[in-house]
Amino acid sequence: MVAKVIDGKAFAANVRAQVAAHVARLKEQNGITPGLAVVLVGEDPASKVYVRNKHASTIEVGMESFEHRLPAETSEAELLALIDRLNGDPAVHGILVQLPLPGHLNSELVINRIDPAKDVDGFHISNVGLLGTGQKSMVPCTPLGCLMMLRDHHGKLAGLNAVVVGRSNIVGKPMAQLLLGDSCTVTIAHSRTKDLAEVCRRADILVAAVGRPEMITGDMVKPGATVIDVGINRIERDGKAKLVGDVDYDSAAAVAGAITPVPGGVGPMTIACLLANTLTACCRANG
Ligand code: GUN
Repeated sequence: MVAKVIDGKAFAANVRAQVAAHVARLKEQNGITPGLAVVLVGEDPASKVYVRNKHASTIEVGMESFEHRLPAETSEAELLALIDRLNGDPAVHGILVQLPLPGHLNSELVINRIDPAKDVDGFHISNVGLLGTGQKSMVPCTPLGCLMMLRDHHGKLAGLNAVVVGRSNIVGKPMAQLLLGDSCTVTIAHSRTKDLAEVCRRADILVAAVGRPEMITGDMVKPGATVIDVGINRIERDGKAKLVGDVDYDSAAAVAGAITPVPGGVGPMTIACLLANTLTACCRANG
């Protein structure tokens, strides 16, 4: 079997175009421009790239982008004061604090200071609780992007066996909640799971979010399964820098029914969903 390649880049472009059209209508008919504030503390090189891309995409869909770059030695009190200001600013509908934060800052405290209605990452404990109990919430962007691609490929997901490899708060746990919400039979596996290959081979839907380069190999994939690769790992191969996922693409693609590539799979969907969440937050704020 040769797997269908799920084109996240094209899918994300389509989502962004829909968001842009909605933003244009909001501006024209209601005089409202959705605004996203992104806060970056310190100089982490990967975070700087992510923040630059978020800024460019926000502008591209016609939203306002408010960038706040703070020095690495920013105190917790200063960061919390900025979040309080953004919470109270009616031009800001979404707030994202780029993670990881420098070690002296308490991420949980900082994230939970964001107004849950403006928490476009869906990381605030209120949004986590709402998602876990099946209530209307802000949904974390990466799992939301994965769910959109899965619904598009499968139609209904009810009754399918889904295995999520990885138990992070950002991806693994919310992904499992979303799949459960669509009536999948969900297993969360992780680095300590016994017989991981055997568990993975039961999956009609296999989501890899462990952060280990090419850990999921073709022998762990059920023939015809849909494989979603959330990993973004920078490795060196044959003396060259290379971006690979958590899935060994070639061996998995030879067995799977459908697969997301890295790059060009889940990655572009994450930013598209951030924009969609910002639009949702703006619409909810304006009734
Ligand atoms: N760092 C890596 N991924 C993310 C994300 O989805 N949101 C935030 N805020 N920081 C991140």
